[in-house]
Amino acid sequence: MASGTSRDVIRRGLWVLGRAIREQPRIFAVAVAGSVLFGGLVIASAYVVGAVVGDVVVPAVEAGEVGTGTVALAAVALFGISVLRVVGIFGRRLGAGYMQFRLQAAYRRRVTRRYLDLPLAWHHRNATGTLLSNANSDVEAAWYPIAPLPFAVGTLVMLVGAVGSLFVTDWALALVGLAVFPALFALNVVYSRRMAPRQARAQRLRAEVSGIAHESFDGALVVKTMGREAQETARFAGRARELRDSLIAVGRLRGVFDPLLETLPSLGTLAVLVVGTVRLRQGAITVTELVSVAFLFTVLAFPVRAIGWVLAELPRSVAGWDRVSRVLDATGEMPYGEVTLDDAAGPATLAFDGVHFGYEPAEAHLPGTSVLGEVAFTVPAGRTVALVGPTGAGKSTIASLAVRLVDPDDGTVTLDGVDVRRLTAASLASTAALVAQVPFVFDDTVRANISLDRPGIDDEDVWAALRLAEADGFVAALPDGLDTMVGERGTSLSGGQRQRLTLARALAGRPRLLVLDDATSAVDPRVEAAILAGLRAPAPGQPAAASILVVAYRRATIALADEVIYLEQGRVLARGTHAELLATVPGYVDLVTAYEQAEQERAENRTYDEVAPLPTGLEIEVDR
Ligand SMILES: Nc1ncnc2c1ncn2[C@@H]1O[C@H](COP(=O)(O)OP(=O)(O)OP(=O)(O)O)[C@@H](O)[C@H]1O
Ligand SMILES: [Mg+2]
Repeated sequence: MASGTSRDVIRRGLWVLGRAIREQPRIFAVAVAGSVLFGGLVIASAYVVGAVVGDVVVPAVEAGEVGTGTVALAAVALFGISVLRVVGIFGRRLGAGYMQFRLQAAYRRRVTRRYLDLPLAWHHRNATGTLLSNANSDVEAAWYPIAPLPFAVGTLVMLVGAVGSLFVTDWALALVGLAVFPALFALNVVYSRRMAPRQARAQRLRAEVSGIAHESFDGALVVKTMGREAQETARFAGRARELRDSLIAVGRLRGVFDPLLETLPSLGTLAVLVVGTVRLRQGAITVTELVSVAFLFTVLAFPVRAIGWVLAELPRSVAGWDRVSRVLDATGEMPYGEVTLDDAAGPATLAFDGVHFGYEPAEAHLPGTSVLGEVAFTVPAGRTVALVGPTGAGKSTIASLAVRLVDPDDGTVTLDGVDVRRLTAASLASTAALVAQVPFVFDDTVRANISLDRPGIDDEDVWAALRLAEADGFVAALPDGLDTMVGERGTSLSGGQRQRLTLARALAGRPRLLVLDDATSAVDPRVEAAILAGLRAPAPGQPAAASILVVAYRRATIALADEVIYLEQGRVLARGTHAELLATVPGYVDLVTAYEQAEQERAENRTYDEVAPLPTGLEIEVDR
């Protein structure tokens, strides 16, 4: 957030601009060269106009005639200057545009790249709306002053040149210049200082408005079903009103200062005419010189505004930059190692050893909570291990640790005996695949959702994965098969269909360890068991494809596992086969029985898509 005094803001704003120049020095040089050319020609044009008036117009008025040669020369001079000015403007505009949009693109890329590198814990702390505005309007805001910057730099050079040429012409007129130009500059500085807090506030409100909008669209289902439309609209309207008021405050300030900035140079022209007439009488200057200087003040008025534009945008730029650099400088990414596992080595062995884990508190001063303690178990190569436990026991957390979405606070997670922290990102991704509790589907075709453009996955592989996920039937029945677009977040699919697509996506990468976090909860129980059975016993003649760690509830599914780990409050309470646990662990029996009852009620209410397909778009998701 923009903090400190407004002087601080200007200093920091100039620092941000310096950074931009360092990143795009050559384009900046082109733009400034164009701008300086323009500025020089503005001064030159003032003197040419003065000369034309003094040597062409005045003699014409006084004597009634001028040589055609002189007129032609004047015409050529004026035309030549105009052409060169066009070249200068072209160079400046083109350079400034290139610089601004290149920087925007580069920083958008950096910010979104950073989002992907930052750990889940960071994403939990940051709202999606904020991330969107960081990558979009904050990046834009940071580089807004780039557009007028070359113009402003050229103008500064021009002002120095103008004062110099004034001194060469006449010291009295130069003094007028020395009074007016710094006053213009000072007015611009005051303007931008007043603007600073207003711009920063507007920028913050922009992010908040987009955050609220994003949340209510994202949660449209909840908003509608809970009848919260009015409240959501009011919440949005309140913040939108604040943004409106803050933008009006910006406009009001502009309304006061813009005319002042416009008037000052005109007053300067007036002063020049007054002082100039006296000097002309004294014979200190000629008509040519007086006209030149008066004209100079008139044509300078506009370029001087460019300095004001830059200064006025600085606060917004600093506010945007602060928000962007908060992302770029965020720490806590998980560095990957150098070890690569053999992808062809058959099913992998997953082992947890003395793992402790706690989520970071939402705010730094709050205490963190311990979620897992001393968790140790192994999924031997080619085996299936079920993870069973009451809600909140830490099953999803274990799943995240297994594929290294998070790292343990203590203890180790190993794949084939190698600490997952020592693996490369690519090796980790090709070895272990997680099918998450909440399925995520991209707004793309079925094919793209499954292959994710990973190399070496052709349509045949996609169909094979769909078959394993028991999803080939419904995909084949879709109007365009693999080419069917599934809508944003898969809205055109049922919950169970979405789950099976994400399962097929994991399978298509042929992982050696499959982590299923309640990944088939919305699928008919019989189909769920069929999927797991299919995963455990691959096609005849093929070796077992993957080791499986499955978070499951249903008796039929759990019974397929070679071993069951029973978890309560982040501790492994018991392990053994399903039958053993049923015989020895009372909590386990209660849990499995309770699930079974709930399962029966659910089946009677026909909420599985397989049992009772609901009309597309109307289905209510049970598991979100
Ligand atoms: N991002 C998070 N930040 C803070 N605490 C979290 C976070 N995610 C989970 N927790 C907490 O960690 C504990 C374990 O959560 P976890 O999601 O692993 O449970 P689970 O066994 O998967 O539950 P369920 O069966 O409901 O899916 C819970 O107490 C939960 O509140
Ligand atoms: Mg969970």
